[in-house]
Amino acid sequence: MEIIKLEKYRPILHFAPQRNWMNDPNGLVFFKGEYHLFFQHNPNDSRHGPMHWGHAVSKDLIKWEELDIALYPDEHGTIFSGSAVVDWDNTSGFFPEEPGLVAIFTHHLERENQTPIQTQSLAYSHDQGRTWIKYAGNPVLKHPTKIDFRDPKVFWDEASQSWIMVLATGQTVSIYSSPNLKAWKFESEFGENMGSHDGVWECPDLFELNVDNSNEKKWVLFVSIGDNPQFETGSRTQYFVGSFDGNKFVPEHEDMKWLDFGKDNYAGVSFSDIPREDGRRIYLGWMSNWRYANHVPTEGWRSQMTLPRELMLRETGGDFHIVQKVVRELDTYFTTKEEISNVIIGTEDTNIYELDSEYAEVELILESVDASQYGLTIHHTKKQYTRITIDKNENILLLDRKNSGKVDFSDNFSRAQKVKLEDTNKMKLRIIMDSSSLELFINEGEQALTSLVYPEKACESISLFTTEGKVNVVHGKFSIPSI
Ligand code: FRU
Repeated sequence: MEIIKLEKYRPILHFAPQRNWMNDPNGLVFFKGEYHLFFQHNPNDSRHGPMHWGHAVSKDLIKWEELDIALYPDEHGTIFSGSAVVDWDNTSGFFPEEPGLVAIFTHHLERENQTPIQTQSLAYSHDQGRTWIKYAGNPVLKHPTKIDFRDPKVFWDEASQSWIMVLATGQTVSIYSSPNLKAWKFESEFGENMGSHDGVWECPDLFELNVDNSNEKKWVLFVSIGDNPQFETGSRTQYFVGSFDGNKFVPEHEDMKWLDFGKDNYAGVSFSDIPREDGRRIYLGWMSNWRYANHVPTEGWRSQMTLPRELMLRETGGDFHIVQKVVRELDTYFTTKEEISNVIIGTEDTNIYELDSEYAEVELILESVDASQYGLTIHHTKKQYTRITIDKNENILLLDRKNSGKVDFSDNFSRAQKVKLEDTNKMKLRIIMDSSSLELFINEGEQALTSLVYPEKACESISLFTTEGKVNVVHGKFSIPSI
């Protein structure tokens, strides 16, 4: 226990299980002043195995308290991914006295010499998710032929006055509706000839989002796609923007967009039941990649979640894309150490900003004077660093973690991660560094790049560079823990 707590890669700002394996976030829901984070968990090993739902709660989305395991495997199988909702009006009949939580999840049944069976089931809780009762009528949804039939995300749809489930069904997402969470009716299927089919479709989410600075709203469909060894990127998440009428999701374009340009943000889904007065749509993802998740060099525990992020839609040139910002609750965890304005940096200049910190944040507005390649180096220690380069010739941002510390557990891990950019002349960057991760937001979250790193220390210092010509640091802010 002690050793695990002192282990150097354990994050401070991010949720990680005390012990053993974790993957997808599940059952994200707000109820009675608490955010609940359930998660795919193998409590007996630090590798993926028979799945349970682990459980943690938080009042501010940053500091999490891990509680007892919520759901254990049973005769219908192990407990794969799913969601949770508050049944305010007792539609299910589980809550004659007071509203409570219902979890809707996949039962995954392994069978000897046969393909596994995946079905959808329910569990409910009368005590804020501390203990759960499995519904006696499980499973509530089966399919006669589909093998990949999993990860139900359920929400109450005001327009159709019914529960809606989006479910990953192989290379598509299927939509079902229900009056009571128990009886489900097929509505439609989405995905043929749409978006990326590089891997199996998993962990969908469907929700409405505000368009920045307007009263307009659009529907967004998240679809994670599993690892396929034929491609470099491993597992990642795509999204579509469109409309939903209670029956069918219709995208505005056939093509999709990537939610994150880093390798380590997968299976992200959003919180249910965030109060209307708050009005935010907040999601978090599993900060790993199926390509190497089982091999990352942590001891006794494996995997962590991304920071929770608020989602918005922004329109550029008639096209809508997601903007993501870490929730404002994080702000109180930082205090400014140093701020600079209008510092011109040339190739010969050494400029080191000491942080010497367990976690840190850097905000920069960089403008090229005549530099073609510029950026910053995060010095984790004297020898270990991660470099972020903006390349004006190629119009890309590159994150290179090959010298960031432990990288040899996977061939794939040291390959550079890239973001294609419209304008590389002026960049606004925000980077949040924890013991073993970097979350980079470009131009106030128009693009995100989430990346694990395994250095000896989070951050000793930051330096800025240009390979030729000069760059102006219009503004720089370096922050360290406030507590
Ligand atoms: C996604 C996923 C889900 C499944 C779960 C199993 O990472 O493969 O589709 O429910 O993980 O742990």
